[in-house]
Amino acid sequence: MSGSVLTTVMNIQDSVFLDIVSRSSSRFELWKKLLNATNAKTIAEVGVWKGDFAKQVLEHCDTIEKYFMIDPWATLPDWNKPFNVDSKTFDDVYAEAMNKTAFASEKCVVLRGRTKDVIQQIPDHSLDFAYIDGDHTLRGIVIDLIKLFPKMKENGLIAGDDFMPNPWQHDIRFEPTLVCPFSIYFAEAMNLPIVALPFNQFLTQKKSDSTFSFQDLTGMYGDVSLNKLFINRETL
Ligand SMILES: C[S@@+](CC[C@H](N)C(=O)[O-])C[C@H]1O[C@@H](n2cnc3c(N)ncnc32)[C@H](O)[C@@H]1O
Repeated sequence: MSGSVLTTVMNIQDSVFLDIVSRSSSRFELWKKLLNATNAKTIAEVGVWKGDFAKQVLEHCDTIEKYFMIDPWATLPDWNKPFNVDSKTFDDVYAEAMNKTAFASEKCVVLRGRTKDVIQQIPDHSLDFAYIDGDHTLRGIVIDLIKLFPKMKENGLIAGDDFMPNPWQHDIRFEPTLVCPFSIYFAEAMNLPIVALPFNQFLTQKKSDSTFSFQDLTGMYGDVSLNKLFINRETL
């Protein structure tokens, strides 16, 4: 691994960062280790579903003081993705999320709504870490990144799931997943480094004195132009 991009991203040594990445066997493990290494205190998760990620992180990261959980837990008429289940199922999913995180309820702030509708309840410049795992469509990732950015502290980390090299993540009847490449273009617009990580994760950092770079630690994201990404549709 060449260059200092990772040092810039993580404020920890390249070797520590790479060690965490290479020794993690799941996204849960990866983010728990990175959150512990960076002593994250205030966190937001966009898209909580049954609370599996929140449970893992809250159980293993003792420095966390506040955890914003953003999710409508409701059937959305204009979200064409498989996780958009019926309202009875969503009520059960919400109950499961609350049960799984009940042990840390004093740290959790539940914001039941879409990112755009609840984000004003998070103070500006307050987040050490945001994990984007909600809508995933082009509309969703645009809104999530733009709305979360002012909420981040300087040096705060923005990460996300479903950074797919193939936008046709599901059956082609569903809206494509465009976390990749939009996150890369967002980082370019804001002069930020962004890193592609294993398990379809990405990581960028709010830094006022930074420059744009895209570093792919997986080798999966060669040409991210939509022309190339969408060609895979023909093979589905
Ligand atoms: C893939 S699941 C989240 C999984 C969870 N992060 C985990 O790791 O266990 C996606 C969730 O995003 C939520 N969601 C959909 N649109 C959203 C939006 N606009 N804002 C916030 N959450 C949204 C859905 O209700 C669903 O629960």
